[in-house]
Amino acid sequence: MPTLTINGQQHDVNVPERMPLLWALRDVVNLPGTKFGCGMGLCGACTVHLDGQATRSCITPISAAQGRDITTIEALAEDATGQRVQQAWLDLGVAQCGYCQSGQIMSATALLKKTPDPSDEQIVEGMSGNLCRCGTYQRIQQAIHRAAG
Ligand code: FES
Repeated sequence: MPTLTINGQQHDVNVPERMPLLWALRDVVNLPGTKFGCGMGLCGACTVHLDGQATRSCITPISAAQGRDITTIEALAEDATGQRVQQAWLDLGVAQCGYCQSGQIMSATALLKKTPDPSDEQIVEGMSGNLCRCGTYQRIQQAIHRAAG
């Protein structure tokens, strides 16, 4: 049975190793903060961190996530950068419908950990894999600058 390390805790998940990580998170471990959008690695709604790297969980098989640290939006507030990003999102009222926002926040946090004070261009590039159908891109960019500090 595969074992996953999710938000610092070990979980034995009785699922096939080829199952996408997204479904183990949502349906087996009961962490529904990570969203299903396209299921094809195109929209970013399902973004989690694997060893700190923003990763599309809908196209990541369980086998590729074993032995790595998986972080989901549910535990992001335990991280100082994640906390700043979430606060900036609240301060600026970024979310509209909100559906894509957990993925946006996960990507923004990974971006800031790699590039602590990104330029507009670096934000556009770093966030290019996360789509928002409400078009909140401007507020997302402002929130990332605010979280950068
Ligand atoms: Fe994974 Fe769209 S649901 S990228």
